[in-house]
Parts: sequence; C-alpha cells; structure tokens
Amino acid sequence: MTVYSEIGDLTPGQFHRFAQFIYARSNINLKEQKITLLSNRLRKRLMALNLKSFDEYFDLISGPGGKQELVHFLEVVTTNETYFWRTTANFTMLREEILPDLLRRFPGQKLQFWSAGCSTGEEPYNIAIELVEGMKRTGVFDFQIVATDLSARVLDFAREARYAGRKIDKIPEPVLRRYFRPDTEKAGYYRVRDDIRERVEFRLENLFETNRSGLHCIICRNVMIYFRREDQEVLVNRFYRALRPGGYLIVGHSESLHMLKTQFKPRNMKNGVSYFRDPDAIHQSVSPRDA
Ligand SMILES: C[S@@+](CC[C@H](N)C(=O)[O-])C[C@H]1O[C@@H](n2cnc3c(N)ncnc32)[C@H](O)[C@@H]1O
Repeated sequence: MTVYSEIGDLTPGQFHRFAQFIYARSNINLKEQKITLLSNRLRKRLMALNLKSFDEYFDLISGPGGKQELVHFLEVVTTNETYFWRTTANFTMLREEILPDLLRRFPGQKLQFWSAGCSTGEEPYNIAIELVEGMKRTGVFDFQIVATDLSARVLDFAREARYAGRKIDKIPEPVLRRYFRPDTEKAGYYRVRDDIRERVEFRLENLFETNRSGLHCIICRNVMIYFRREDQEVLVNRFYRALRPGGYLIVGHSESLHMLKTQFKPRNMKNGVSYFRDPDAIHQSVSPRDA
C-alpha cells in the first residue's frame, strides 16, 4: 500500500515538466517557489487515483486517456481565491464613474460586461448587484454579464450561487438582505436572488482562446498576476479588440498596464485607474505579440 505522506516533493526536473505542461494549457506561469505547494496538491490527486508516483501522474494527464483527469489537474493548479465585496473601489468606480459614461456613449443599448477569470462567481454577481444599485441614480437600463473561467469546478459552484462564511462576510447587511435569500437547501448559506443570477452567464473558457467582441466593459481582476509579462500583453491586446471603442477595462488593485505595450488609455478616476478604448485612437499594430 502506498503511504502518500512518504512521497517527497517533486524534483526540480519533475516540477519543470509539470510547469511547462501547465503553461501550455493555461499560460499560468508557475514559479519554482511553488514546488512544495504543487507537490502537496498533486499528492492528493495521486491518492485519489491510487497512483504511486508523480511520473505516473504526468504520464496519465499527458497521455491519450488523460482528458478527464486534466480537468482536476487544472483545478489543483489554479488559485481561485475570491469573495464578495473584494476591493470595492473597483466596483464603486464602475457604478459611479464608468457606468454613467457608458450610458451616455451607448444610449439605449444592452450593456455587455465580461468578468474574465470569474472563479466561483462572487465577482460577476457583485457586478450585477452594483449595476442594479446604479439604476437608482441612472434610471433603468439593460445589461448582461458573461463570466468565464478555466476551471469547471468553480463554474459549477458559481452557477449554484450558494455562499456562506468568509465569502459573504464583507457584504453590508442591507445588501445581503436585499440581494440574497437564506438557502432553503443548505443551512447557514445564502443564495443570490434569481433576477441577479439571471443576469450572469457562466462559460468554461481559456482566456487565451476566446474571441469575444462587442463588449462595453471587461473586468479582469487578480488573474493577470499569474501570467508572464509577454502573455499579459497578448491578453490585454485581446481585451482591447473585444471592447467597443468607448469601452473600459478594469484590472485588480495590484495590477497595472503600466509596463505593457497597449493602445489602452489609462484614466485616473476618483476610485482608481481604469483603461479606456478611446474611440478617437488611430489604429496601428500595437505589438508583434498581439495575436
Ligand atoms: C484568483 S482568481 C480571481 C477571481 C476574481 N476575478 C477576483 O478577483 O476575485 C483567478 C481565476 O483565474 C482563472 N484563470 C487562470 N488562468 C486562466 C485562463 N488562462 N483562462 C481562464 N481563466 C483563468 C483561475 O481558474 C481562477 O479562478
């Protein structure tokens, strides 16, 4: 019988093979400091599958019969940390500054938002709540949010829309009362209100393989940090093309487009920096890597 606690960490060579494999499938750049973390997470998969070594596991996921396990593998290597009311300045900027500008530029249109790297759904639902709240000042408008992630498990969780504990701890009490309902199926859980859930469509997509277009606003927070600089540039230029001229990109508070070659115009707003696709920009090829 295999004693899993006795399987040591990945060797640098094994780590490198897994890291390259992860990069090829997600563009996630796993740094060598993560060797223990990855070893621990993979050990759990070995145990679940009754495998004896990391090499056996690698052969499985990289072989023809590995498709099913690949889903689990990507889940153990992605970081899905998220919660409601995370970095609210982003949402205040969206509601108070970007939204009125979008309504002015695109009167009567159904506004299209994209939560890119949405994890378990808190971010897109939070955006939907902010937009509905925004209507108190702007009047009624129509909108839709598409929310995408690489991990099937987090998307299943997101579609269920049942949350508890630290995922909802930061939600102000009146908002919780208004936009959530105590879950009748799971004690201690809250479920997002039906009309808010209906605003969000979840899709399993790799950010580097989608070709969205016609968007008014993209929110991609705490995702780009996992990518190399050159891949961040590729992604940001994809975002640029996915937006309508006059649209906005919002990134996480520890992220910036500062060092990237892009046609986005940073806009200093009261609640942070947003990135604007200027309708008056003269279009040129931004980078040889903007594929
Ligand atoms: C830390 S979470 C961020 C969640 C949310 N945006 C927030 O800020 O709270 C990062 C998410 O990005 C997803 N992700 C990473 N690489 C991706 C890729 N190439 N395509 C799609 N999603 C990806 C991960 O699966 C994970 O759920």
